[in-house]
Amino acid sequence: MKYRTLGTSGLRVSALGLGCMGMSNAYGPADEAESIATIHHAIDIGITLFDTANAYGRDGHNERLVGRALAGHRDDVVIATKFGIVAGGGGIGVNGHPDHVRECCDESLRRLGVDHIDLYYQHRVDPDVPIEETVGAMADLVAAGKVRHLGLSEASVDSIERAAATHPIAALQSEWSLWSRDIEVEVLACARKHGIGIVPYSPLGRGFLTGTVSATDDMAAGDARRTHPRFGGDELQHNLDVMAAFRGLAHTKDLTPSQLAIAWLLDQGDDVVPIPGTTKRVNLDDNVGAIDVELRVYDRARIDKVVPLGAWAGDRFYPGRSAQFMGYGTSRPLAS
Ligand code: ATR
Repeated sequence: MKYRTLGTSGLRVSALGLGCMGMSNAYGPADEAESIATIHHAIDIGITLFDTANAYGRDGHNERLVGRALAGHRDDVVIATKFGIVAGGGGIGVNGHPDHVRECCDESLRRLGVDHIDLYYQHRVDPDVPIEETVGAMADLVAAGKVRHLGLSEASVDSIERAAATHPIAALQSEWSLWSRDIEVEVLACARKHGIGIVPYSPLGRGFLTGTVSATDDMAAGDARRTHPRFGGDELQHNLDVMAAFRGLAHTKDLTPSQLAIAWLLDQGDDVVPIPGTTKRVNLDDNVGAIDVELRVYDRARIDKVVPLGAWAGDRFYPGRSAQFMGYGTSRPLAS
């Protein structure tokens, strides 16, 4: 295993983390025994960063599962979890109110069975609560010893600036991969300016870059991608054509497409720690194979040619969530 430091925070983690969301929801049913075996295998091969959230699964299912699997390994791992996504209005909403931050943290500590969280993220920016108030409450958790480092997810430049002025931010977890490069427009530079480490989620494009997606109907009932604009209709057909070329390129380097996709992210800088999600040991081993891949100028140029900016058809967001929920969120200003 190789290790990296998240920005200037001093938080040292394995070069790849393990995204645990799929063990509780998002991509259809997962086998719990294999999920736990995957977490244990990750520990065995030197992975230290484990990513969960209070919103993954019903009633904190994912935090409980991760907590159970990591019991007995507390000092060897970095536990990252999140608050701020809530059920409401017949769908999902966000809550960045300070009281909510405090309550969520105590609940997460209980479910995880730990006395502190290593990295605590605001899962989505709440447009109705000034981010200074949310991060102020998070900073109080650091002072109380309940949390070690703070993070943001899908935050806008404005939110990052204001959050970083309130308390040091160790990590920004936003979607980033060859499948979704919006972060490169302005958010990435802003995060780096503040010494914030980058934790790309969905580094495999919600699984598309693995090359295992072929038809909408092949996806399990309950797999959220069945409604994703890039995973259906003409968009899917177009995207499968792009993927075929990317798979071909990976094979010329004796890599799986997953490995090439992850290697591309790792190559973006030492401050980048992708967290591919998997529920299976075999896929974890495949992904970890990316860590030793070295890309050269020629490889980068060929990747850019096969998957240029704007290569994929369809929006990166799930329908109806774009502006308020998923996109780089900005909160209202502090009252003067
Ligand atoms: P997210 O961050 O949303 O979890 P991701 O990391 O881009 O998204 O992709 C996760 C998806 O890729 C999952 O469906 C995962 O399925 P498994 O749990 O069955 O592994 C799939 N996946 C991850 N690594 C894979 C690999 N090496 N080969 C095939 N599928 C893989």
